[in-house]
Amino acid sequence: MAVERIINTGISNDDQQEQELEVTLRPHDFANYIGQSRLKQNLQLAIAAAKKRGDPLDHILLYGPPGLGKTTMASVIANEMGAQIRITSGPVIERAGDLASLLTNLSDGDILFIDEIHRLNRTIEEVLYSAMEDFKLDIMLGKGPSARSLRLDLPKFTLIGATTRTGNLAAPLLDRFGMIHRLEFYKPEEIRQIIERAASILQVRIAGDAADELSRRSRLTPRIANRLLKRVRDYADVNGDGIIDTVVSGQALQLLEVDELGLDPADRMLLLAIIDSYKGGPVGVETLAALTAEERSTIEDFYEPYLMQIGLLERTPRGRKVTPKAYQHLGRVTRDEPEQTNLV
Ligand code: ADE
Repeated sequence: MAVERIINTGISNDDQQEQELEVTLRPHDFANYIGQSRLKQNLQLAIAAAKKRGDPLDHILLYGPPGLGKTTMASVIANEMGAQIRITSGPVIERAGDLASLLTNLSDGDILFIDEIHRLNRTIEEVLYSAMEDFKLDIMLGKGPSARSLRLDLPKFTLIGATTRTGNLAAPLLDRFGMIHRLEFYKPEEIRQIIERAASILQVRIAGDAADELSRRSRLTPRIANRLLKRVRDYADVNGDGIIDTVVSGQALQLLEVDELGLDPADRMLLLAIIDSYKGGPVGVETLAALTAEERSTIEDFYEPYLMQIGLLERTPRGRKVTPKAYQHLGRVTRDEPEQTNLV
C-alpha cells in the first residue's frame, strides 16, 4: 500500500510547498501557540528561571505522535529564550564528524534541535553524552597505536530532541535530558482555533460550522488540520466562490476520502483487515504490517496512536484488537451481536 495519504502526518522532504506552508502557519511564541497548555506552563517556568539565572536551558526531550508540533515548539522555545536554533535530524547525522561540526559551530545559549533523535546511530549518540553533560567533545585523532584523544570545550548549548517514542532511546541518553515531555493530541476545540488562525493567515473565509467539521476530521493533529484546510480551499476556489461552508467542506472531504472520524482508506483497510481476517483480533503488529504492506514502525507511529486515542483500536499483551466502536463505525456487526435477518 504505502500510498500518499492526505492524513499522513509526515512531511516529505521534497515537498517544498508543503514545508513553506507549515513554516508560514507556525506560531512563533507561546502567546500564539494553541494547545499543549501543561507543556507550555512547564516550559515557560523553565525559561523564566534560566533567564533569571543567566543559565542555558536544560536539555529537553519532546515525544509523541508526528504532526503535533514538536519542531514548532522547539522554535518557540528558541524564540522565547532569544536564542539561535539549528535544526537537524537523526538520519542526517551520518558520522561523528557531522555532529562535531554542528556542535563546534554553536554559540553559548544556542539550541540544537535533533528531530527523530532515536534514529541516531549508537557511536554518534555516545558523542552526545559528554557534550550534553559536560559541554565537552571527545574526539579521536589518528588510528592504531598512535591514536590520541582530544577533549574540546563546547559552548553551553541546549539540546532539544524529538522522537515518536521514548522506548527507542538508550537509557544513558534519556538520563541526560532535564525535561522529558509528551505532546498530547489536541482537543477538537483547539484544532478549530488552529484552523481559524490558519484561515486568517491564508486569508481564507470559512464558516464556523465548516471549521467545526474540519476540526472533527483532522485527527486532532494541527499538521493535518492545516493540510485539509488547504485542500478544501482549493475545492472552494475551483468549485465555488472561495468561501468554505459545510457543503464545500463536505464535498471536498468526500473527494479526499476522509470520513467523519478523520479516517482515510488506509485506516479503514487496517481495521477491516483485523475484523474480517482475524475476527477483530488480537493480532500481532507484524501480521498487520504484512497485511497492509506497511512498515511496523509506520503502523505504530502513524496509524495506531490516533486509532487508539479515539477508541477504535486497543493494544493488548496478545496483540491489537478492534473495539465495538470500530465495528459500529465501519458498519460491521460484532461477534456477540447476531446478524440481522428478515426471519421473524
Ligand atoms: N499551527 C500549527 N500548530 C499550531 C499551534 N499549536 N498553535 C497555533 N497554530 C498552529
